[in-house]
Amino acid sequence: MTQELAPTLRDQPAARSAGWWRDAVIYQVYVRSFADSDGDGIGDLRGVRDRLPHLADLGVDAVWLTPFYASPQADGGYDVADYRSVDPLFGDLRDAGDLVGEAHRLGLRVIVDIVPNHTSDRHAWFRAALTGGPGAPERGLYHFRPGRGEQGELPPNDWESVFGGPAWTRTDTGDWYLHLFAPEQPDLNWEHPAVREEFTSVLRFWLDLGVDGFRVDVAHGMIKAAGMPDIGMREQAKMIGAQVLPFFDQDGVHEIHRSWRRLLDSYDGERIGVAEAWAPTPERLALYVRPDELHQAFNFQFLTCDWDATAMRGVIDASLAATRSVGAPTTWVLSNHDVVRHTTRYGGGPAGLGRARAAALLALALPGSAYVYQGEELGLPEVADLPDAVRQDPAFFRGDGQDGLRDGCRVPLPWSGSSQPFGFGPGGSWLPQPDSWKELTVEAQTGDPGSTLELYRSAIALRKELPGLGDGEMEWLPAPEGVLAFARPGLVCTLNTLSAKAPLPVPGRPLLSSAALEFTGGTARIPGGTCVWWAV
Ligand code: NOJ
Ligand code: MG
Repeated sequence: MTQELAPTLRDQPAARSAGWWRDAVIYQVYVRSFADSDGDGIGDLRGVRDRLPHLADLGVDAVWLTPFYASPQADGGYDVADYRSVDPLFGDLRDAGDLVGEAHRLGLRVIVDIVPNHTSDRHAWFRAALTGGPGAPERGLYHFRPGRGEQGELPPNDWESVFGGPAWTRTDTGDWYLHLFAPEQPDLNWEHPAVREEFTSVLRFWLDLGVDGFRVDVAHGMIKAAGMPDIGMREQAKMIGAQVLPFFDQDGVHEIHRSWRRLLDSYDGERIGVAEAWAPTPERLALYVRPDELHQAFNFQFLTCDWDATAMRGVIDASLAATRSVGAPTTWVLSNHDVVRHTTRYGGGPAGLGRARAAALLALALPGSAYVYQGEELGLPEVADLPDAVRQDPAFFRGDGQDGLRDGCRVPLPWSGSSQPFGFGPGGSWLPQPDSWKELTVEAQTGDPGSTLELYRSAIALRKELPGLGDGEMEWLPAPEGVLAFARPGLVCTLNTLSAKAPLPVPGRPLLSSAALEFTGGTARIPGGTCVWWAV
């Protein structure tokens, strides 16, 4: 089956272009919350397949699917028990194949998540490691250590879990195992050859099924500093963080990425690897996208940047300079399933939404590739007031090790209708959706020229039409304080980050604006928090 799929994709004119990923718009599907086909209130692969036309209409080039593998779901599927099977919650392997086939038929590429830093504690390897006791060979596949203190009652070192609490859990036999995330996510020992071989085989499994690439979870975490030294401070790792730590961004990870690149390149159709890597600087991050490593790395510096013209310009310059130094494109990311939705981060309410719409036009005008997190095309806000009883995020249960709790950005999408679950599926929805989302459904926004959905559709369509957008050069133009202006071939983009209107000499013909403009003579008055694309 998969042998037939790749030629179908290659027949699509847009897909033939070399380096498709250099300026691709890639849409992140959080499978659990995208669309539910069977009425259990949990999104699934068939649900995604049935809703692919929405993504084709939106005009994106590829879809990234968050983990749908067999998993006890201790961390939203980032705890994988079997890397080669689909969790019954989400469907089966046939559904995965059908989804890839249908996406390819629609001209969409499919990227899947790979979780190599840790397995689930229910993975066959870890079970064997526990049940086999201290002498079990499977212990060598993880990081088991004796404890400190007279009875070994203290953890082997002072490392903390990203989700809060110690990064070590003691087993019944008295020794400890390392988990940088939840205790249900034991870290693999990447110095062990069997771990490397197993992941090569897993990658092949999905490449053979026809996927176009991998988003590599915790791509900066697989190698730990020799001797696992103490850090000597509390509040160490955060999901959203750039600290220098002995368990993140160690040089040894690059060799793994190089070997994966060779594997990807051995397949036809330019299959890609995308690093979810947290590095202390844009320069360190750029190392992950050297020509013989992965293709892209999420630009989290952009995501975490304040709504401030000077800060934004600094991040844009630093990101472009770093990625250019290795010949890679940068990726512009505003939201994902781990952070507060940017409508809310930018202040919430109408002003927050206005800025979110403007940020989207900015991201889509900058050189490189852009990611869209499901629901941002609808302008969805974070859902702040979820009852504790429905929350799933392990960070919530493990205290305050997180910047934010992650369920509020994972509320199922509203598709249609005026009451819950808003067309999400034939049953309910695993997290409650706000009633106000009736105005934000795909159905309600379709055809409304002022809607966020139509803004995204227009922007992505223009991006395809205009040769000056996507990969390439940009040049800053003079602009008043609080305003950013830059030129791309045939286009000028202006962003007013202030709250007040900014008068600007009209730079060209307005092509697309995130809010209504006023003109007096040759002057345009750009409302606060607005981005405009001008044809020049
Ligand atoms: C990053 C993923 O995006 C997040 O959801 C997950 O909790 C951690 N990695 C651990 O796998
Ligand atoms: Mg379902």
